[in-house]
Amino acid sequence: MIIRVVGGGSISLRLVDPVATANIQHFYDGQTCSLSYVVSDPGSNSAAVIDPVLGYSAESGRTDKSGARKIIEHLQAEGLSLEWILETHAHADHLTAAQFLKSELGGQIGIGRGICEVQKHFAKVFNLQASFSADGRQFDRLFSDGDSIPIGNLKVTVLDTPGHTNDSVTYIVGDAAFVGDSLFMCDYGTARCDFPGGDAGLLYESIQKLFSLPDETRLFMCHDYPPEGRDLRFVCTVAEQKQKNIHLSNGVSKSDYVAMREKRDATLGLPKLILPSVQVNIRAGHLPDSEDNQVSYLKIPLDTI
Ligand SMILES: [Fe+2]
Repeated sequence: MIIRVVGGGSISLRLVDPVATANIQHFYDGQTCSLSYVVSDPGSNSAAVIDPVLGYSAESGRTDKSGARKIIEHLQAEGLSLEWILETHAHADHLTAAQFLKSELGGQIGIGRGICEVQKHFAKVFNLQASFSADGRQFDRLFSDGDSIPIGNLKVTVLDTPGHTNDSVTYIVGDAAFVGDSLFMCDYGTARCDFPGGDAGLLYESIQKLFSLPDETRLFMCHDYPPEGRDLRFVCTVAEQKQKNIHLSNGVSKSDYVAMREKRDATLGLPKLILPSVQVNIRAGHLPDSEDNQVSYLKIPLDTI
């Protein structure tokens, strides 16, 4: 938008950036009920991918890049340049395709600084201390609360939202917020808080931060588990969440929320892919170094978690 300013007989021109709205395209992985997003700037060819999924078969140990290839095809068809690959947290239920996307298209991989605590914990579980640095160096960028990065003319602001895990962050782009697992659709509630570093009280406080965003803010989920008869849904407003989320509506108190969350978490089994997922995701999507037969192996710690 050009604004013409007239004063003192002279004319000057100022360029005023309008508040840009991001283009957002979702991708759904039916095997893990996960959502990934391509976020792009309509005023340039810049894009970010949030939470890309690498398929994995627990039976065969084979990875599956077909979902990530669909994201690549979309980026290429739209003429988009991949600048960022953003993780909302180290997922425990699916592997990240961040390294695959980076190797194909470039871009920097970013995650919250809390990943170092997650790495320290799982480096012990998988006995990696001799060969693995738990300092986040596997990622290109570690975000602190309030950091911002550009996607072309768009500004992404990072909000720490720990609780589900201690590395959980929300990425805010204009009126859109990518909340990771902090919230689910209103009929499913909120994420479990019993993983290492999880804390139901912290999640409650993080959700209050999200609820302090404008009511019309669109919240994009990292998962949807549609009940029988409901189609996939992955976005709703702050106002809807405040009114209808089954774990949070009617102004539930922190102590009541924590009691509910902890009681429910005690009944949940572990995610089917937690062991492969965390071994790959704490490495920013790298598979473990291959052995002298050029094969990469994952570990299974017995009687440990
Ligand atoms: Fe998660």
